[in-house]
Amino acid sequence: MKEVVLGLLGLGNIGGGVWDLVQFFGKDVEKRTGLTLQIKKALVLDKKVHGGKDVPDEVLTTERNDILEDPEIQIVCEFLGGEQPAASMMLRALENGKSVVTANKMALSLHFDELRAMAKKTGAGLYYEASVGGAIPVINALTSPLIANHIEQIMGIVNGTTNYILTRMAAEGADYETILKDAQRLGLAEPNPAADVEGMDAAYKLSIMGSLAFHSRVHVEDIYREGITKVTAEDIAFGREMGYVLKLLAIGKDNGDSIEARVHPAFLPADHPLARVDGSLNAIYLYGHSFKDMMLEGRGAGDAPTASAIVGDIVQAAQNAVHPMPYLRPETVPVADDWQSKYFIRMQAKDAPGVLAEVTGLLAGEGISVSAMMQKHAVPGEKATLIVITHSAPEKAVQRVVKALNSDICQVDNVIRVEG
Ligand SMILES: NC(=O)c1ccc[n+]([C@@H]2O[C@H](COP(=O)([O-])OP(=O)(O)OC[C@H]3O[C@@H](n4cnc5c(N)ncnc54)[C@H](OP(=O)(O)O)[C@@H]3O)[C@@H](O)[C@H]2O)c1
Repeated sequence: MKEVVLGLLGLGNIGGGVWDLVQFFGKDVEKRTGLTLQIKKALVLDKKVHGGKDVPDEVLTTERNDILEDPEIQIVCEFLGGEQPAASMMLRALENGKSVVTANKMALSLHFDELRAMAKKTGAGLYYEASVGGAIPVINALTSPLIANHIEQIMGIVNGTTNYILTRMAAEGADYETILKDAQRLGLAEPNPAADVEGMDAAYKLSIMGSLAFHSRVHVEDIYREGITKVTAEDIAFGREMGYVLKLLAIGKDNGDSIEARVHPAFLPADHPLARVDGSLNAIYLYGHSFKDMMLEGRGAGDAPTASAIVGDIVQAAQNAVHPMPYLRPETVPVADDWQSKYFIRMQAKDAPGVLAEVTGLLAGEGISVSAMMQKHAVPGEKATLIVITHSAPEKAVQRVVKALNSDICQVDNVIRVEG
């Protein structure tokens, strides 16, 4: 048996989940791998908060150097959350030759280059399976079993909170604010939900997945981002009538000379594999030239599913004689600021002669053709709801049309991209 000495940074939800999994399943891991996992220290802010619980007092510390500078600790597991001090603690651990296992998508995506460079310099390992998709082994899939592929596309539901909200809005015909409040009451959305509902959490995850899939850094600040706060029950219902399901998607595409990276709500055809991924589940749909298409689905959050990925990383870090370092091209491929999609445009248009011709004329002027159109609540002389679905068109051209459409005869209420 080989003993693996661990230090945990943070003992909240995930740190506590890892502690529990190591206590209750450590013997089985030992039988399967020959590794005895020993948690020597766990960093907390206040020992009194954690004292008297499952973790013995001598394991708790409020001093980071008890972990980062202890030569006996081989693997540092970071579960503090946030950018700092998490990133600098990981950097210090790597500098000291300790492998790092983290679930922290924010610190990782913002400090990926520094952390990688330090790991490369000292030969320590950097493992982050739990940073994207919780228990779903998507990082491992992209860096190892799927390596013999040109990954052309990633499309992921990688935020459970927003998927839960959109699923309930669709099922109950309820508006965003009502479901958000209920999700907060049930503990399924944070009291400050901005990082989830504004798409930031998904953007951090896309930055990590995209960099690995396309072998080029996808910086989070280059990702186009739009959250779900503008989505209405009406959008979802009209989309459904036209055969679509709404999801918040993290989309990455390799277009050869540029990479697309965007997070926004999108309609998917009801028979798309991602369309049936409901509630707080996560799923990542991939397309590669050898394997064609594939979908990985599972629990993207929660202490036990996330701890499952983390203990998997700890085992890999302990077993690998040489730590893997994903390949990145020497020249960073630019992230595109324009792309092609189909569009759902919902507007209030005056029910008067010539209005439809004006709408289709503006679209035609930008070379955009219409694939479907639906009119609702038409009362002569008053405004009716008009929904247009376009064929594939450039984003910037659609935005120009939307600007031109807004007038006294027409008001665009929402524009939602249509994918799949
Ligand atoms: N929760 C999930 O389902 C999930 C899933 C995948 C990935 N993750 C990632 O896992 C990480 C941890 O998430 P979590 O849900 O476990 O958060 P959490 O419950 O808030 O735990 C973080 C813990 O770190 C402690 N802490 C913060 N700063 C510290 C410092 N400077 N020194 C010592 N302790 C400090 C906090 O103490 P206090 O409680 O005293 O503030 C808290 O106990 C995040 O990066 C998150 O994105 C979470």
